[in-house]
Amino acid sequence: MNKIIYLDAAASALKPDSVINAQLDFLKNKYANAGRGICARAADVDGILKNARKRVADFISAEKAEQIIFTSGTTDGLNRIVNLLRINGKIKNGTVVAVSDLDHHSARLPWYNVPDVNLITMPLNQNMNFDLSRIPYADIFVITAMSNVIGMPEDVKEIIKIAKQKNPGAITIVDAAQYVVHQKIDATDWGADFICFSGHKIGTDTGLGVMYIKNSDDFMPDKLGGGMVSKVLPEKELLLNDSPYKFEAGTLPLTQISGIESAIDYLESNRPDLNLIKYLYDRLSKNPKIKIISPRDSSLLTFIVKDMHVIDFGALIGAKGVCLRVGNMCATWIHKLLGMQGSIRISVGSWNTMDEMVAVADIIESIVK
Ligand code: ALA
Repeated sequence: MNKIIYLDAAASALKPDSVINAQLDFLKNKYANAGRGICARAADVDGILKNARKRVADFISAEKAEQIIFTSGTTDGLNRIVNLLRINGKIKNGTVVAVSDLDHHSARLPWYNVPDVNLITMPLNQNMNFDLSRIPYADIFVITAMSNVIGMPEDVKEIIKIAKQKNPGAITIVDAAQYVVHQKIDATDWGADFICFSGHKIGTDTGLGVMYIKNSDDFMPDKLGGGMVSKVLPEKELLLNDSPYKFEAGTLPLTQISGIESAIDYLESNRPDLNLIKYLYDRLSKNPKIKIISPRDSSLLTFIVKDMHVIDFGALIGAKGVCLRVGNMCATWIHKLLGMQGSIRISVGSWNTMDEMVAVADIIESIVK
């Protein structure tokens, strides 16, 4: 059996030792619930949560830690935003929601639960980036900051600026699940109303996400339960806790949260080396049977092989110990735009080396003869 070469960072990152150790330390030595106890240990867990929230707020340049809501992942956050907007009366019959063909399923499909909205698609340019000259009028904008197939950062600040010029009252939602790994998010500078990303793509375990809400005090919560209410009054009235707690009903994924500070520390000084992608691009683009979809300076390499189904390619290379993603990547619309049913994707993390790229290019060339 060949040694495993893990090239699927865009699906989920391998975990740095510092994160594993932080999570283990929590499980072994510090475990308790948060926001529910008054003993020393419970108070320590509240401290872990507070510090983690502050670290995330600094990481994305949010103005206040109260704008950071912990969720179970990007998908959870993007679904919750739709529900929050609905519950808070921001969606009416005919509300125009602008999406794009860069969307991952989780950015667009939650809107399918709201039949009254009018979904329109923001045009892309020839490079498969947002066409800034053709941003339409909309009430709500869903902005995929980096496609998980194209891998290029979008100019989120400019898109939001134009969206607000078209409609000063527009609500902007940013799916930063891929972007957060490679680029600095500046929530305040962007002026976004909502931003979502997942912990597992930046080094924590699965089950943790971040949902930034700019004006979190203005929204009633979408989920009710323990921890979000300070008093239950007669006649079904509630005294809500302040943000962020009013949005965090139930027990949070505390083990993952205990690892997020280490994950961010690690990511900030170990962003994936995109020279690895350039090497593969330069080598594989010489092969006439390979059609590369992503640009050379992308954060990932997406391609198809002429006369070979992507699933067959995935099985052949998987048998040689190379883990990558094949299929439609939960990104139906970009593949449709490209006239393809699926593609093959290589994505790298800080653990990958140039030696691995040389080995993988050799393997790919041996499969694509
Ligand atoms: N959205 C993740 C990916 O692109 C899972 O693979």
